[in-house]
Amino acid sequence: MILTEITAPIQKDLNRVEHAIAQTLKTDNLFIQQMVDYLSHSTGKRIRPALAILSAKYCGNLPDETITLGAALEMIHVATLIHDDIIDNSAVRRKQKTLNFKWGNEISVLMGDYVFASSFYLMAKSLSKPVLSTLADTTNIICRGEISETFNRFNVAMAESQYLEVIKEKTASLFAASCQTGAMLAKGDDLTVNRLYRFGMGVGMAFQIIDDTLDFTGKQSRVGKPVMSDLREGKLTLPVIHCLNNCASAEKKRLKAMILKKVKTNGDLKWLMTLLKKNNSIEYSLKKARFFVEDAKNALYQLNGNRDKNDLLQFADFLIDRDF
Ligand code: IPE
Ligand code: IPE
Ligand code: MG
Ligand code: MG
Repeated sequence: MILTEITAPIQKDLNRVEHAIAQTLKTDNLFIQQMVDYLSHSTGKRIRPALAILSAKYCGNLPDETITLGAALEMIHVATLIHDDIIDNSAVRRKQKTLNFKWGNEISVLMGDYVFASSFYLMAKSLSKPVLSTLADTTNIICRGEISETFNRFNVAMAESQYLEVIKEKTASLFAASCQTGAMLAKGDDLTVNRLYRFGMGVGMAFQIIDDTLDFTGKQSRVGKPVMSDLREGKLTLPVIHCLNNCASAEKKRLKAMILKKVKTNGDLKWLMTLLKKNNSIEYSLKKARFFVEDAKNALYQLNGNRDKNDLLQFADFLIDRDF
């Protein structure tokens, strides 16, 4: 199934989210507006608003604030991406040049702040205190994840458990909060809100693991951002961590040395691909992603269902089968 088929039933709601984002970021400062317009040319998959909307519908209604929530979630996400691209020194995102490559790091740090602040302004104006405080907490957790990840660059001793903790913080926490707050606004009961939180967490874990394997197996034209870039930046992700833990000792020594090299050649990366293959490290990572998706689905199976449960389950399947 393709993404647009899954989101077709909520396309109208997603269009309203788009409108709310544009309204919130609108400014009379021409330079800022130029960057806002640039960002709106290429919008990404809008997964977090979609999760919030589907979760609300799952609880049986879709209050207007869900649209505001979707806009706020997406703006938190976009702000983290703007900062992430500076940290990761990335040149392309969503099939276009990053803000940092177009306008430089200084302007981009501030633009990330502008988008963050706009999101919190919108939430403070329109959403209830419990939702606001959940999202403030989550934003804190995302920062913690990005900081741990950056701190652990070139750490060849990084354990799988450390990696899982980082992706839980930097990615899965926002997926979980999207489902949770969507359900909160729709007045879901406590059990349902908790189960949707767990669903989002599992899907988010799987999503980041898939993203990290796509860095090795994906095509730039499809994923819309450069591939083979994590290791270049010293970022150890699950395939490499698994490989280090499972390859022969001579290979392990060579792999560690390669990771620590400042500049990796194409030959280095080609060799790495062979090694990942030999040690089934990509398969291992995909298996792990599937495990998290199963856990996500189990969280919902135990609840009485309606049609929108199906939408969430399909969404979960799409997120792990994706090639972009
Ligand atoms: C990218 O998120 C960052 C990760 C968590 C891997 P998305 O893949 O949701 O990015 P967009 O919003 O579609 O561009
Ligand atoms: C995305 O992390 C940033 C956050 C989740 C905050 P990554 O660095 O892994 O994602 P990409 O590859 O740049 O999209
Ligand atoms: Mg990045
Ligand atoms: Mg990053």
